[in-house]
Amino acid sequence: MAQHVLITGGAGFIGSALADRLAAEGNHVLVLDTLARAGAADNLAWLRRRHPRHIAVAHGDIRDGAVVADCVAGTAGVFHLAAQAAVSVGRSAPLEDFEINLRGTVLLLDALRRRGDAVPLVFAGTTKVYGDLADIPLDLCDDGWQPADTALRAAGVDERRRLDFHTPHGCSKGAADQYVLDAARSFGLPSVVLRMSTIYGMRQCGTPDQGWLTHFLLAAMTGGGITLYGDGHQVRDLMFVDDAVDTCLAAWRRAGDLAGRAFNLGGGPDNAVSLLQLVGTIERLLGRPVARRMAPARADDRRWFVTDARAARAALDLPAPLPWRQGLARLAAWADGAQGRAVRAA
Ligand SMILES: NC(=O)c1ccc[n+]([C@@H]2O[C@H](COP(=O)([O-])OP(=O)(O)OC[C@H]3O[C@@H](n4cnc5c(N)ncnc54)[C@H](O)[C@@H]3O)[C@@H](O)[C@H]2O)c1
Repeated sequence: MAQHVLITGGAGFIGSALADRLAAEGNHVLVLDTLARAGAADNLAWLRRRHPRHIAVAHGDIRDGAVVADCVAGTAGVFHLAAQAAVSVGRSAPLEDFEINLRGTVLLLDALRRRGDAVPLVFAGTTKVYGDLADIPLDLCDDGWQPADTALRAAGVDERRRLDFHTPHGCSKGAADQYVLDAARSFGLPSVVLRMSTIYGMRQCGTPDQGWLTHFLLAAMTGGGITLYGDGHQVRDLMFVDDAVDTCLAAWRRAGDLAGRAFNLGGGPDNAVSLLQLVGTIERLLGRPVARRMAPARADDRRWFVTDARAARAALDLPAPLPWRQGLARLAAWADGAQGRAVRAA
């Protein structure tokens, strides 16, 4: 195979969208994935159908150093997306979470260090590194919880916010984030961290704990109803997966200039919405009410989180992200088609 681009977790939701774009641009893509995640095998089959000559697969585990070293040999760049991505699993299986998210990341960095040349690395981090934001006074407004500080409300949380890891998952992803940044200092790797907020879109196999927006939409479409934890006024900013892919690719291409930098990645204040507003919009989209059940708030569920992603937009020269209502309509149209029906039935 010609020099490839490696995507760990390349059969996952964001990974498969990224692989699709890279392959469409003529790159050879090597997907390293256990296919452990529901929907990953279907995503991979979809990728192979679309790009039979540009997608290769290493069906393996990021925790296996030999597999990782093989995948890294001859790669022109690495997107590290493989992860245990659910907060609940971090609590119920903290060792597994640690092994995949932190040890797997260090194995990958060590394989790149051993290669000895400057291979660009883009790491899918999380805005959970900023903790529960409990120190930010909030007001309950018509459009959900909002910071009393109007400047923060208008801008969102930027990269200067202090790191504050909560939950085993927050710790493993947060520590991996720091290892990736340090790899630029310690090993001269052109490594960039993208701290992602809520990313949504096609081929996401959503659960209440991971990919909640897609989970809400698919549950509403199948008549399964939606469980809202807490008061439903929690606010999140949303980013359509195509915009996340654009950002990953731009970070890869400019990794040499941006080595050792972390950027927040999310839809920002223009794409911030409360859960209740989102459910209302889904109801209007489907033209019928959606059954909802209220449940007690989950520990560490932030009442407000909105990303200030202006630093990434400026450094990577990216346009404003897709407005969330348009993204939701696109996702609903996809979910209504053949592929979406298969995901809904799974
Ligand atoms: N989707 C979001 O909103 C969001 C938000 C913040 C951060 N992120 C980060 O982005 C990345 C991708 O997220 P996603 O939503 O596409 O998740 P996903 O679960 O769909 O994809 C992760 C992929 O990693 C694979 N995987 C899991 N364990 C593995 C292992 N031990 N070895 C190899 N592969 C393994 C899974 O099979 C899956 O295909 C993750 O690192 C996640 O933490 C995503």
